Amino acid sequence: MTIRFTAERRSPAELTDTLLVPVEAGGSIDASIQELDRILDGKLCQSVGDLGLTGRVGQVTVLPTWGQLPAQRLVIAGIGSPEARTADDIRRAWGAAAQAAAEAGARTLYSPLPAVPGLDPERVCQAAVEGAGLGTYRFLEYRTRVETTLSLEQVIFLATAGQVERGIERGRTAVEAVCLARDLVNRPGNELPPERLAGIAWEIAERAGLECRVYDRGALEELGAGAILAVGQGSRHEPHLIHLVYRPAGQPLASVGLVGKGVTFDTGGISIKPAEGMERMKGDMAGAAAVIGVMQAVATLGLPIAVHGVVAAAENMPDGAAFRPGDILRALNGKTIEVISTDAEGRLLLADALTYTAQQGVDVMIDLATLTGACVVALGKQGTGLFGTDQDLVDALVRAGQRAGEKLWPMPLWDEYRELLKSEHADIKNTGGRWGGAINAALFLREFTEGVSWAHLDIAGPAWAERGGPLGPAGGTGHGVRTLLYFLEEYAARS
Ligand code: BES
Ligand code: MN
Ligand code: ZN
Repeated sequence: MTIRFTAERRSPAELTDTLLVPVEAGGSIDASIQELDRILDGKLCQSVGDLGLTGRVGQVTVLPTWGQLPAQRLVIAGIGSPEARTADDIRRAWGAAAQAAAEAGARTLYSPLPAVPGLDPERVCQAAVEGAGLGTYRFLEYRTRVETTLSLEQVIFLATAGQVERGIERGRTAVEAVCLARDLVNRPGNELPPERLAGIAWEIAERAGLECRVYDRGALEELGAGAILAVGQGSRHEPHLIHLVYRPAGQPLASVGLVGKGVTFDTGGISIKPAEGMERMKGDMAGAAAVIGVMQAVATLGLPIAVHGVVAAAENMPDGAAFRPGDILRALNGKTIEVISTDAEGRLLLADALTYTAQQGVDVMIDLATLTGACVVALGKQGTGLFGTDQDLVDALVRAGQRAGEKLWPMPLWDEYRELLKSEHADIKNTGGRWGGAINAALFLREFTEGVSWAHLDIAGPAWAERGGPLGPAGGTGHGVRTLLYFLEEYAARS
């Protein structure tokens, strides 16, 4: 189900179906809706008081209108204090409100747009679209019987269309990209082997007007991508390298590479993982999913820069043909790698994917990967570990994360730790021990960046939500997509 978003200047008193009523911190009703309280003889304000509503962001209550309004119901939504309010408050409030409206059977939700300090109405509207769209996402592909469907068909903002149109468009594009990434992450390993992921990327490229090139095993052998080949060699499904390109109409102002880890299922290989919780490793292609989602959106946004989306896809399986600890691989850039753990497979895929992307002549490249459990230990379930060789790039990504409401935290690339990756028999080994596991992994990746400005996002924590919230249900989150979209928008504007 996809919600339609539009805008109309209408009086709240004449609206049918469901109306969103923003309540500020302290319990006062947003100025844009006070006319309503007059029609209801003060009952609205009284109910807010009687119910003890505080205006906290995320708090929602559905009220009937007792036949006193054409609208059937009101969704009272907390929006926090006017001074401290942020775009992310709007996102969360509209996510919670749209979910509540949909669960109550609303088809149309009318919604005023409150003011947010430092944000023009267009951006407020974008945040509301993002919230409502993401909050009502559900993954129903594999349900033959659906107990609870969300009814919501459209959200109509009470604003002049011309003022918020671009916000609606940008918000919708972002929501579609995130939901695409979520669908891919939620899809299980049996339904999404590497060649299917490549097929889906191909279809999206076709529809969006992107260039697409897919390397199968034979093509990867010709290329010399020994690390990607090794990770995939224990699976009946061949590994694939997927390369999508967006080119703007005119001469591109700059060129950005986005690189995703696409392990469609990570058993750990011969260094096999414990059974408990292994099912979650169907989400080990969340980096790839984010890159594919972003590429779809980039085509719609029409930015004046070129964007390369590169995904290394493989299934990591234990098997008679699988790669082993002790094996020495030759990567695409010619470096040899001693495999210590076959469970440190993501960095092997990325090694070749990063070299490949650097060879495309990009100005900067950013990889996303569910790379290390150590990063989750360091930053928890919501934090993305951010590493990079270019401070301007790192700073720009932190800013983009703040605008997107995603938590990116800078981590160090200490040269002293590089020696943990020294191998007896090869140029480098693929693990550096338990301590500083996220840093060691990033230092490994740096060896394959070929001097190109590079940043690495370890999304092992936030890629998967244990529990649902205002911005979506449990499962794949599509984390990173919106940060990258905000980043690309700013990068294009500065180029
Ligand atoms: N896909 C995992 C990392 C991961 C762990 C993602 C938990 C999401 C949640 C990765 O391939 C892996 O197995 N990493 C190992 C590295 C180790 C062998 C050096 C890890 O983190 O234990
Ligand atoms: Mn692994
Ligand atoms: Zn993995």
